[in-house]
Amino acid sequence: MASYKSGIDLRKEPHLHAANPYANDYTDGSFKVREDLLPLVRGILLPNYRILEREKELFARIERDYRGADPLFIPILKGAVRFSQDMFRFSKEIDPDYEFMPASSYGTRLESGSVRLNLAEITRLLEKLENRKRPVIIVEDIVDTGNTLSHIVDVLTRIDDVIDSQPELKGFRRKGRYEPSSVTICTMLNKPARRKDANKDLPVEYVGFTIPDLWVFGYGLDVWDDKSRTIDHLCVIKDEWKDPANLAEFFREVDERRKKKTTKKQD
Ligand code: IMP
Ligand code: MG
Repeated sequence: MASYKSGIDLRKEPHLHAANPYANDYTDGSFKVREDLLPLVRGILLPNYRILEREKELFARIERDYRGADPLFIPILKGAVRFSQDMFRFSKEIDPDYEFMPASSYGTRLESGSVRLNLAEITRLLEKLENRKRPVIIVEDIVDTGNTLSHIVDVLTRIDDVIDSQPELKGFRRKGRYEPSSVTICTMLNKPARRKDANKDLPVEYVGFTIPDLWVFGYGLDVWDDKSRTIDHLCVIKDEWKDPANLAEFFREVDERRKKKTTKKQD
């Protein structure tokens, strides 16, 4: 069997675990990552089991704080899909009522861009808030500069005005007031070092892990352009991939190798 190096010197970076395509997770201290994606991984910051443990604690706190309050959870697409669904498995009292909300801010770049939100895509969510004054808990994968959430929190807290300013809202008829009783954030990861001053007051109440300024991926987060979201563990990228042009090239080669393999099989 070939020997696999995950690119880290564990003595220098004790906070990282090794990645290995043949790992027998939980027993030998290294964790499984698909072989073709291994060159991206500097190390594993959070193995899957630690994330699950933390989700259990977080949801227990949410259930204590929102007992009898009928919260509506709003996981942000797509990064928060895995985190929200895994966390909801730990519910005991609340039967989590959730509506996804799309908000893409990055596209194919490793830096903050502008946020896109389209109310016509969330009419079901709006119906669930109709005349009910429900508390809202936004569920997010990671808070970085805070720009994305700041925009979402702003839209949700002023939702009645926002609806009125979008008369073209397709398929939605306003039947009352939609304002939530409160808006709070639950995030798996928090990168406070990157927060913009203007976003310092974001209501980030529930945090899974506070992490340093590293580009992380896996467990729902894409490394670039929707790639590698489904790795089980939260990985840190190697420095050499910080340039998106290199990543584009890397994934082009991965694709090519995959195609070659399939043609061979058909031969
Ligand atoms: P913000 O608007 O700068 O707070 O960015 C939030 C969004 O950026 C998150 O929802 C993620 O989609 C993305 N993001 C920020 N940091 C990372 C990272 O380290 N890895 C992957 N995605 C990230
Ligand atoms: Mg996101």
